[in-house]
Amino acid sequence: MSNLPVNEMGHLTIGGVDSINLARDFGTPLVAYDISYVKKQIQKFQQTFTDANVKGVVSYASKAFSVKAIYQVIATLGAHADIVSAGELMTAIAANFPAANLSFHGNNKSLDELNLAIKYGVGTIVVDNFHELELLDQVLTEQNASVNILLRVTPGISAHTHEYIQTGQTDSKFGFDLESGQAEKALQLATRNDRMNVRGIHAHIGSQIFDVNGFIFETKKLLSILKKWQINLGFKASILNIGGGFGIRYTNEDNPQKPEDMLATILETVKTETDNLQLPLPEVWIEPGRAIVGPAGYSLYSIGSRKDVPGLTSYLAVDGGMGDNIRPALYQADYTAVLAKAPTLEPVEHVHLAGKYCESGDILINDLSLPQTHSGDVVVMLATGAYGYSMASNYNRNPRPAVVFTEKGNSKLVVKRETYGDLIQNDLDY
Ligand SMILES: Cc1ncc(COP(=O)(O)O)c(C=O)c1O
Repeated sequence: MSNLPVNEMGHLTIGGVDSINLARDFGTPLVAYDISYVKKQIQKFQQTFTDANVKGVVSYASKAFSVKAIYQVIATLGAHADIVSAGELMTAIAANFPAANLSFHGNNKSLDELNLAIKYGVGTIVVDNFHELELLDQVLTEQNASVNILLRVTPGISAHTHEYIQTGQTDSKFGFDLESGQAEKALQLATRNDRMNVRGIHAHIGSQIFDVNGFIFETKKLLSILKKWQINLGFKASILNIGGGFGIRYTNEDNPQKPEDMLATILETVKTETDNLQLPLPEVWIEPGRAIVGPAGYSLYSIGSRKDVPGLTSYLAVDGGMGDNIRPALYQADYTAVLAKAPTLEPVEHVHLAGKYCESGDILINDLSLPQTHSGDVVVMLATGAYGYSMASNYNRNPRPAVVFTEKGNSKLVVKRETYGDLIQNDLDY
């Protein structure tokens, strides 16, 4: 990839720290985040709202990477966070993240989870289905509380990297269906409930979206629904939440529109459409995960064994793999990687970068171009910050890696490497 930062020794730097030193000091496999990237991306989104003169909220979708320290970074910027489980909630609470700035998502929130959310003062519940409306009513009654909610709807559109598909009806496990009138019925039930303060509507149309057109279509659709709800039910929404999905660059083949530029176009659409429809301008909430932490993250591995299949191919094996990044094995996600000590050196060969897990499918990168490498060299996979560590497992009883934050030449350990003791701490004897 072009524009990789290197120091005077030609080594890749991450947040101003020599990647070779990171591997030496913290061991490999290691996940490192350039925290200034995270901050800058959030600030770019926030600036876009300011420039458009639209009230907005950036709510970091923390499922992309959920550890105490990242909630603390997000909180310093006044941004919100989305959570999807009590585990994420309790991590955010342990990080002293303001609960009022949390939005709770999920298609099957349990009674216990909703109880915890209300007890800790979660600001917004994104209600997904009728069962949840019942559970939430029960929890609010028991705790004598009230809460802001958004209704999640399926707007009949699914966006993918280069295209979006209009389906009218979406075959999704999430949200209230629009065509059949479910969403309108949910709105009636919720607005009749004194403990639920319905603030608006939510939708999420996909992930790794490169082109703004899907978002534009979504925005128009959601605003037309709000108009209908205003006419039919007298409902006035104060929040329009368009979800996340802003795409990022994993390899040189990826050429996404800048997320903040997409947001600027979306906000223009919101202004024009609300004008046309004579709707009050709502707050616009976005929920980027990948765009905030993806490019900020790097996975550092040490090269171990090598297998050359004469005339065919070569496998270069590293000390991590599908346990710390399942995305290549799970959905053939593409990444690239560089040699830490010489990221800009001309490649001399193509190899498969193989993980160490006992699965043939545990290949991190197919056909990776690299300079000459030796056992012990450190390779760095780029843009691994989203859905890598957060999906990590202990498969094959491998401990999960450490996580370090780097910024302005400094590094800080934020998650310790798991120990073999950690692996068996919940195991009991027969
Ligand atoms: C409701 C919702 N919001 C936000 C996101 C974040 O998506 P991304 O990381 O692609 O921005 C997701 C991801 O699946 C989601 O389901």
